[in-house]
Amino acid sequence: DKGTYPFYMLKEVDEQPVVMRKIVQEYLNEDGVPVIDQDLLETMKKADRLYIIGAGTSYHAGLVGARMFERLTKVPTQVFISSEFAYEQPIMSERPFFIFLTQSGETADSREVLVNIKKQGWPSLTITNVPKSTLSREASYTLLLHAGPEIAVASTKAYTAQVAVQAVLAKAFGMARNQQEAVDFDLKQQLGIVAVGMQAIVDSKDQLESIASRYLATPRNAFYIGRGIDWSVALESALKLKEISYVQAEGFASGELKHGTIALIESKTPVIGIITQDRTAGLTRSNLQEVVSRGASVLTIVSKHLAQADDTIVLPDVDPLLTPLLSVVPAQLLAYYTSLGKGLDVDKPRNLAKSVTVQ
Ligand code: M6R
Repeated sequence: DKGTYPFYMLKEVDEQPVVMRKIVQEYLNEDGVPVIDQDLLETMKKADRLYIIGAGTSYHAGLVGARMFERLTKVPTQVFISSEFAYEQPIMSERPFFIFLTQSGETADSREVLVNIKKQGWPSLTITNVPKSTLSREASYTLLLHAGPEIAVASTKAYTAQVAVQAVLAKAFGMARNQQEAVDFDLKQQLGIVAVGMQAIVDSKDQLESIASRYLATPRNAFYIGRGIDWSVALESALKLKEISYVQAEGFASGELKHGTIALIESKTPVIGIITQDRTAGLTRSNLQEVVSRGASVLTIVSKHLAQADDTIVLPDVDPLLTPLLSVVPAQLLAYYTSLGKGLDVDKPRNLAKSVTVQ
């Protein structure tokens, strides 16, 4: 039931702070130690490499997850689009462990991978929002997202839940591998900060609605750019915008723009820079300068400690690994208001279904 909300998507965006608290409640004990099946962790400890598999938004959540697993566990981690992995399996490590990310648990491309890797005798975990879904039943282990039903085709709270649950698992697995960085990572406190920060962002809807109407209502093209984890969020932000507002949007690695794609920048093309990481902030800012001088309309989504006077959207500060949980929220709302402003059916964009059961 959408209650007083005009669309499910807006309701689901608004639910994200509650979902973060729910994940803390379900997965972290009083001392902030993850409560995760020991058998799952024992199996993961035997792996020499993690393979994360997903489609669409779930793939984008996996890109963020891989950075967390590598930093907190020191186990090499690769992310694959399921429809690619299914038909061209790369050369594998000796002891792979598979993590399937799927909100619905029914995506045919992801299932195809699961079927193939099971035949090869490899263990797997499905992280899903739907208990007893196909990929949950067929994998060796399941972790639930606890996000509550997601109805809008555009995935929002499932993305942030996937990122948060991967953070829990990365901390648990890192601790099981005696990694000091995982022990020191105060995820419980940080997810509390995230929940408060998300609330502040969803409370600034008016600002986001006016930015959407000013910059995104008319252009044909738009770009989200960032480096590292910000690039991963740029990909998800662009997908949100294109799937519900039909603006041709691309998520781009900031440093790669000048190697060709900058030719697409015209007068007033919106370019939205995501800037949350100390190491890359200056570089992304200079990439934004390059597009300003070609006439682009530049907007920024920036962590507070990196913010400058003319930044567009300022995010509360949080651990650098968790910034996607905040930076994606304004992008979700910009997509929402762009779609709404065009009078489109936000929840049911053309040509799309909530779960994709064809290959
Ligand atoms: O249910 P899944 O997470 O496996 O779905 C995968 C994609 O179809 C899905 O994330 C899709 O990209 C989103 N609906 C986009 O918002």
